[in-house]
Amino acid sequence: MADVLRRIGLSLGADLCWPTCYEEVLRRLDLAIDHGGDTIRFEVDRVTIEPFDLRQGSRYDVVVDRLTHWYTTSREWIKKAVLMDGLYVFNNPWAIQSMEKHTSYCAMMRLGMPIPDTWIVPPKAYEPKPDLEITLSRYARLFDLDEVGRSVGFPLFAKPYDGGGWAGVSRVDDEAALRRAYDDSGTYLLHLQRAVEPHDLFVRCIGFGPQTRLVRYDPSAPLHDRYTMDDGGVPEEQRQTIVDTTMTINSFFGWEFNSCEALRQDGTWRPIDFANACPDSQVTSLHYHFPWLVTANLRWSLFCAATKRTMRVNLDWQPYFDIADTDAPYADKLAGYAAIARERFQTDEFESFCATHLGHLDGEVWAFFDTPIAYDAVRQKVATLFPNHEVDLFTDLFWERIQRWRTDNPPADG
Ligand SMILES: Nc1ncnc2c1ncn2[C@@H]1O[C@H](COP(=O)(O)OP(=O)(O)O)[C@@H](O)[C@H]1O
Ligand SMILES: [Mg+2]
Repeated sequence: MADVLRRIGLSLGADLCWPTCYEEVLRRLDLAIDHGGDTIRFEVDRVTIEPFDLRQGSRYDVVVDRLTHWYTTSREWIKKAVLMDGLYVFNNPWAIQSMEKHTSYCAMMRLGMPIPDTWIVPPKAYEPKPDLEITLSRYARLFDLDEVGRSVGFPLFAKPYDGGGWAGVSRVDDEAALRRAYDDSGTYLLHLQRAVEPHDLFVRCIGFGPQTRLVRYDPSAPLHDRYTMDDGGVPEEQRQTIVDTTMTINSFFGWEFNSCEALRQDGTWRPIDFANACPDSQVTSLHYHFPWLVTANLRWSLFCAATKRTMRVNLDWQPYFDIADTDAPYADKLAGYAAIARERFQTDEFESFCATHLGHLDGEVWAFFDTPIAYDAVRQKVATLFPNHEVDLFTDLFWERIQRWRTDNPPADG
């Protein structure tokens, strides 16, 4: 029986609130887990940015990465550490880099998901490139934008093929509005996607490893109210469809932390945006759901670190396509995809690990979110985003919602 230390690194950019909570709860847990004949302890610190020798080792077992979808130096350090030092990281940096929204639409259409009809149109403008002129003059066919719009059907959404954060997204009602949107779109490569309208419910389903949380989402509300505090009363069998959809997407693309947006129209859930592999984790957006996020993150990273889970570096899509290519009804196919996801996320092992070793986690999180450290973490995040005169107001608003979560979720033993 050896004493083993597992190091977890947090690779961070602007994140402020959840890392403080994560570190503090881990400290309070004071874990010494008996696993595989060893006693495992954990240490967490923050990954720094510096020059590195490609052959130098890494001190981390697991990195929770929130930075490398836009910050290249850290992404390339992570890739090196995965390839050369056996590092486990979520999310998989190669899967984030190469799988934009467009790939996710095509792949999930291939699996039979009810993605709204979507076209792509060549961009209005280009960055200059040596062969651009000759290529376009030879091969770019004039096209009738109105006709493409009518094929998709109005209203539609024009949005970048690799979009995020609502940049360049517009809702288009008719041909004239489409021409205006296209003229204003610059170098964006645009999808034109049929609007899921009318719809009677909009949800985001957050997936963290095998854990999910479904939240009704209100895109028309101000930022701090977009995540609502309820799940929209989704009936049980529909909930299962959304969870299975999210788990299918996440396991397919190797995203262990991702959120999936879906809209319900005539009883059918249509996923519209599910390539979000660095989902919002701030208390200022998640408020009521923030303690869940901190808990889910701790559970999954501790499981990966303690069990030395093997990182799936290459994505293997054929098993999904084998199911997709059968004649089974879509509901059966989805259940088949979800079964692959359960296995890839080691759902059974994860649940038994949590039951055996992390029984006190819920109680620690519940107690922690009543402390001045937790309050201060909320306040600090608010202070970076809100004007001075609103800091008290919004700190108290988010704090009150966290307290509501505590009231609704008392730990089983307390
Ligand atoms: N097909 C659609 N039907 C209805 N609403 C849509 C559709 N596509 C986008 N939207 C709306 O536009 C918002 C931004 O689009 P989205 O695809 O989520 O882009 P981003 O990746 O930038 O978040 C969505 O949250 C939703 O409110
Ligand atoms: Mg979105």
